[in-house]
Amino acid sequence: MRIDVLTIFPEMFAPVLGSSILKRAIAKGVAQVSVHDLRDWSRDKHKKVDDRPYGGGPGMVMRPEPFFEAVAGIKRRIANRRLRIKPHVILLAPQGEKLTQGKAEELSKRPWLILLCGHYEGVDERVRSHLADEELSIGDYVLTGGELPAMVLIDSVARLLPGSLGDAASASEESFSGPLLEYPQYTRPPEYRGMKVPEVLRSGNAPKINEWRKLQALRWTLAQRPDLIDGSSD
Ligand code: ADE
Repeated sequence: MRIDVLTIFPEMFAPVLGSSILKRAIAKGVAQVSVHDLRDWSRDKHKKVDDRPYGGGPGMVMRPEPFFEAVAGIKRRIANRRLRIKPHVILLAPQGEKLTQGKAEELSKRPWLILLCGHYEGVDERVRSHLADEELSIGDYVLTGGELPAMVLIDSVARLLPGSLGDAASASEESFSGPLLEYPQYTRPPEYRGMKVPEVLRSGNAPKINEWRKLQALRWTLAQRPDLIDGSSD
C-alpha cells in the first residue's frame, strides 16, 4: 500500500513512522509512506497556506490551491510510474465520519491513500467537497490539527496489511475485529503481590480456556462497552 500525507508539520511524522511495527512495515515494503510539506505547493513568497475567512470571523482558513495542486502533483508523479492505481483522498477533520476498525479494514484493501491534514479554524470547503473522497474523524474531540489523526489512521491501517504483524493470528483475534472486546491476558509470574493468574489459564485444558476467554470477553464488553452488543454505537 502507498500512503501520501499532506501537512504543514511533516517533522511530526518521523518518530511515529520510525518506530515499532510501522517502522518494520515500511522497511519490509508492506507500506510505503511519503510525507509532503504542503508549503511546497504554496504560491506565496512567504509560503503561507492560510488566509482570512470570507464573511469575517476569528481565525484563519487553509486555502484550497496548495491542497489541489499537491494532490495533482503527487498523482502525476506516481501515475507516471504505476499507471493503474487510483488514490483514495481522505481529509482528517473533526466533523468527518468516525474512524472504526471496520473502516480501517476497508481502507487497508485500497492500494493508495492520500491523507490531507487540516489546521487553524478549518479548511476551505472546496477541499472537502471537491478534492476529498471522504472525511474522517478519530473521535468527538477537537485536536489542533489533522496530523495526529493521520498517524492514528496510518497505524490502524498499516498493521492490518499482510506481512505487517509477526503473528498472523494476532490481528484477527483482538478487540473490535469481532463484536466483542478482547479477553484479559496474563503472563508470568503466576502470582505477583498476591494477584494470581486465573487457575484455568494454567490448566493446559484448551476447551476450558476457550470457554473462559469467551465468557470474560462477554463480561468485559457488557461492563465497558455495552453499545457494542446492543448495537447503539452503529
Ligand atoms: N482535526 C482536529 N480534530 C480532529 C479529529 N478529532 N479527528 C480528525 N481530524 C481532526
